[in-house]
Amino acid sequence: MNIIVTGGAGFIGSNFIFHMLKEHPDYRIICLDKLTYAGNLSTLEPVMDNPNFRFVKLDICDREGVYKLFEEEYPDMVVNFAAESHVDRSIENPEVFLQTNIIGTATLMDACRKYGIQRYHQVSTDEVYGDLPLDRPDLFFTEETPIHTSSPYSSSKAGADLLVLAYHRTYGLPVTISRCSNNYGPYHFPEKLIPLMIINCLHDKPLPVYGEGLNVRDWLYVEDHCRAIDLIIHNGKVGEVYNVGGHNEMKNIDIVKLICKELGKPETLITHVTDRKGHDMRYAIDPTKIHNDLGWLPETKFADGIKKTIQWYLDNEDWWQPIVSGEYQDYYEKMYKNR
Ligand code: NAD
Ligand code: DAU
Repeated sequence: MNIIVTGGAGFIGSNFIFHMLKEHPDYRIICLDKLTYAGNLSTLEPVMDNPNFRFVKLDICDREGVYKLFEEEYPDMVVNFAAESHVDRSIENPEVFLQTNIIGTATLMDACRKYGIQRYHQVSTDEVYGDLPLDRPDLFFTEETPIHTSSPYSSSKAGADLLVLAYHRTYGLPVTISRCSNNYGPYHFPEKLIPLMIINCLHDKPLPVYGEGLNVRDWLYVEDHCRAIDLIIHNGKVGEVYNVGGHNEMKNIDIVKLICKELGKPETLITHVTDRKGHDMRYAIDPTKIHNDLGWLPETKFADGIKKTIQWYLDNEDWWQPIVSGEYQDYYEKMYKNR
């Protein structure tokens, strides 16, 4: 089995590559990644010498390059993680989100149509469903929940999902889609809530909580997400959408307080800053379908996963220090200085 994994130098894609090479040692994995600010080749160092692994630096929007790679590799499957993934950046500059997340997805699927494929899998997000009110804890996102996006990021992901389903209906492309809740774990880029708070805590820097910090996210350990995608690409039904989430809803403020506690830092580091524009209040996935149809269940409890994650950042300063001391500094200044 030859699988092209796009965006494999990012957070979830790299964890997926490690998972696949471990669980399916006879598969060949080709990682296609543009290495944007969020891609990090050093993450893939442990597998670079694996004869069943190949890294190719490429933009998923580069049609010629993508077709050439398909002619070289004739993949059986494509799993598309490549995306601009940060909501705050999409609010600052939507254009690259439309380019990568929509045009890039179409380019990959055109290659799949041209050269043939057993499965195209689109890694999507629960954010395509918009948000839920805090006072209705009985409501959850199912696969039937209408698309109702809030940010340029989620709109670009929703646009891609609609295209994927259209390529299935119009051209018969064998597609599946997974819509997952917030992931956390190793190799998470430090612009996102959990790694940002861990690293700021370690530097005794203010912990910038947007608004009151009452927004709720449904956190899933990244390895559980990787297992879900592995199941879907092998056993999922073509044309179907699968929601992935672990019924682990937490308020942002509680996560930040927990990180302070684990690292022995005072809560006085917490600073409430201007809220995100259009900030989604609550995400909550109903994972009944993937549980009933494919037998998937999350395995890592949040209490364990957050400890493992914090420990990983303590043990792997070599990974995140070059990131936070580079152009990330400019990003941080721009996003947080006068917030
Ligand atoms: P990330 O930002 O950490 O990584 C994205 C990767 O894609 C990087 O390696 C980057 O270099 C690469 N990339 C970006 N543009 C590219 C392009 N034009 N061509 C080729 N490669 C390109 O993202 P992540 O958090 O790992 O998310 C991966 C996928 O999962 C995304 O599609 C995202 O929408 C989705 N998702 C993320 C979460 C989450 O909590 N992080 C939850 C649900 C779904
Ligand atoms: O739900 C899935 C989505 O989860 C993915 O599709 C996205 O790619 C991923 O980035 C993530 O989106 P969020 O916007 O939920 O994640 P983020 O880590 O940016 O923020 C989590 C919450 O924390 C959100 O309510 C905003 C808040 N926050 C975030 C940052 C970076 C803060 O309060 N302070 C911060 O500094």
